[in-house]
Amino acid sequence: MKFFVDTADINDIRELAETGLLDGVTTNPSLIHKSGRKFMEVVEEICRVVPGPVSAEVVAADHAEMMREAEVLRKIADNVTIKVPLTIDGLRTCKALTSDGTMVNVTLCFTANQALLAAKAGATFISPFVGRHDDIGFDGMEIISDIRMIYDNYDFQTQILVASIRHPIHVLESAKIGADVITAPPSVIRQLFKHPLTDRGLEAFLADWGKTGQSIG
Ligand code: G3P
Repeated sequence: MKFFVDTADINDIRELAETGLLDGVTTNPSLIHKSGRKFMEVVEEICRVVPGPVSAEVVAADHAEMMREAEVLRKIADNVTIKVPLTIDGLRTCKALTSDGTMVNVTLCFTANQALLAAKAGATFISPFVGRHDDIGFDGMEIISDIRMIYDNYDFQTQILVASIRHPIHVLESAKIGADVITAPPSVIRQLFKHPLTDRGLEAFLADWGKTGQSIG
């Protein structure tokens, strides 16, 4: 399973990229706003730090304008993935761009039927939002299972990119279901490394090592 980070904060991206475990980045207009940076400039910088797919979202509502924006965005770097919303115009744009060899991430997916449409439109990635489902009292992960089943039934190559992740259990469930990618906020990715027993165990090992009076090398 690939790990993408869902942020436009370049410091977080750099730090996580140094672990060697980061496969890509997703941004959206809200995350760009939060970064306080210029869109084109920050995407360009992210693309230089992370060689994997970096999602940059169009903001137009109609197909012609989405195509124009995509043209501008894909010139930033070869690893830019054009993010389009799951609308009729968005899927039309997805079809046109992927037929041309451009990577496309279809976002704001909330049903398995929408994911089926995105796969038919040739999407490289489909982004179902699990957390926002949970927020309104539904089980977001159920949709991920349904999409996995549907994509496997028809051998669709679209990658399931689980988005709107809120906590490590979403990551665990995604891996159990066989999602292709998760995108999570930096805080959730950092949480994955942590366990109190790891910290306590390490502390005890180091204390005992100190008592031996030895050193390595
Ligand atoms: O990038 C899309 C998605 O991950 C947004 O997550 O937390 O705003 O629901 P959230």
